[in-house]
Amino acid sequence: MKLTEEEKSILEGKEGKTKAKIMQTLVEFGDLFGAEEFVPVTTSGHLVTSFGIGLLKPVYRIMDEIIEAGLKTPYPFTMDPRPIDYKNVKCGLLNKLIFSKIMYSKQKTYEEQLAKIGLKDKNAFTCTCYLKEVGNTPKYGDILSWAESSAVVFANSVLGARCNRNSGMLDIFGALLGKVPKFGLLTDEGRKANWVIEVKTSSLPEAQILGSAIGMKVMEDVPFVVGLDKFLGKEINDDVISYLKDFGAATASNGAVGLYHIENLTPEAKKFGKKLLNENVKTYVIDDEELERVYKSYPIMWKDKDAKPSLCFIGCPHLTYNQLISWANRIEENLKLSNRKKVCIRTIMTTAPDVFDKFSKTEEYIKLKKFGVNISSICPLMYTNNPIAGSKPIITNSNKLRTYSKSRYYKDEDIVKIICGVK
Ligand code: F3S
Repeated sequence: MKLTEEEKSILEGKEGKTKAKIMQTLVEFGDLFGAEEFVPVTTSGHLVTSFGIGLLKPVYRIMDEIIEAGLKTPYPFTMDPRPIDYKNVKCGLLNKLIFSKIMYSKQKTYEEQLAKIGLKDKNAFTCTCYLKEVGNTPKYGDILSWAESSAVVFANSVLGARCNRNSGMLDIFGALLGKVPKFGLLTDEGRKANWVIEVKTSSLPEAQILGSAIGMKVMEDVPFVVGLDKFLGKEINDDVISYLKDFGAATASNGAVGLYHIENLTPEAKKFGKKLLNENVKTYVIDDEELERVYKSYPIMWKDKDAKPSLCFIGCPHLTYNQLISWANRIEENLKLSNRKKVCIRTIMTTAPDVFDKFSKTEEYIKLKKFGVNISSICPLMYTNNPIAGSKPIITNSNKLRTYSKSRYYKDEDIVKIICGVK
């Protein structure tokens, strides 16, 4: 990489040993991916490593070194969700022991470290930091140092910001240094599409299955989706944000997509249209049958495939305010059908702390409580990482959670029937 005089002097240690090491790491990262220069990070960071796993000792040592060197991020940063919430996600003694003493034993210490280097506030823990209630919402053209795949793909695609799919620790290094190497999705060329996805379904496809199908097909390439604006419209409103959040998370976890374009809808697709297509693009047609094929291909990882589910997680990525309202109403309608007062499977919905604050003042919140649904701000995946908790038959409408755990995926229309006991 070609470095400026200022960058060279940081690398030579003129601003301290720790900053030099951070610079060296980012230079090596850039060199590896063919970057020629750094570009300034223009807004707040978002960190993927939000869990204080005892085994990650080097992370805590690095954090101590950063604190000792007096380094702080120029903008306050947000974090992925916390792993534990005993108040809303109750656990037995054994699970608590595993969570608190074995798995996430360093949570408190780690959060204290984060606070010293620029953590936004106590509500900063969510993977949907870009929602307006949370406020870490990049603008078009902003350069980011984020790593959470569902947030990176949303920021790139729906907001038109620029961020590579970094890894944990590289996100904090870029945020601290205020610079990231320019390559991949930070360049105009890297944002062009290699795939045209033709959506030919008879109705709006389930976001999480469409995203999964595209992710598995294009892997880390950039898809340009045509035919979806027919159902979603041409403007990004709150419902479209909810849809694209779930769609993007599935593309990013079932494949490795960091950016997608939706014709006539997402900002770059609106601005540049088909000029975003590379030569020799490949085409993937998705109709009702293809979606059903993908849905049916998901393996059931439970020991007993016919087991009765013991837990349901809805909200990975965290639910938007609109989604919480809509789930409350859906559950109400389905409980009426089954003649029940409460859900028959323990159900946890997850959302950002700031979204919860807003939702907790609504009638729908009272309804959900009455129906026996709990709301938390944890990451369901970190819950299922506990070998005992995660081995139970868990159902979810998240394709990301399905991919990284043994949880079984159901479409929204099916999962609501299951938790409400509708036959
Ligand atoms: Fe968010 Fe955790 Fe799912 S970070 S996207 S709730 S795996």
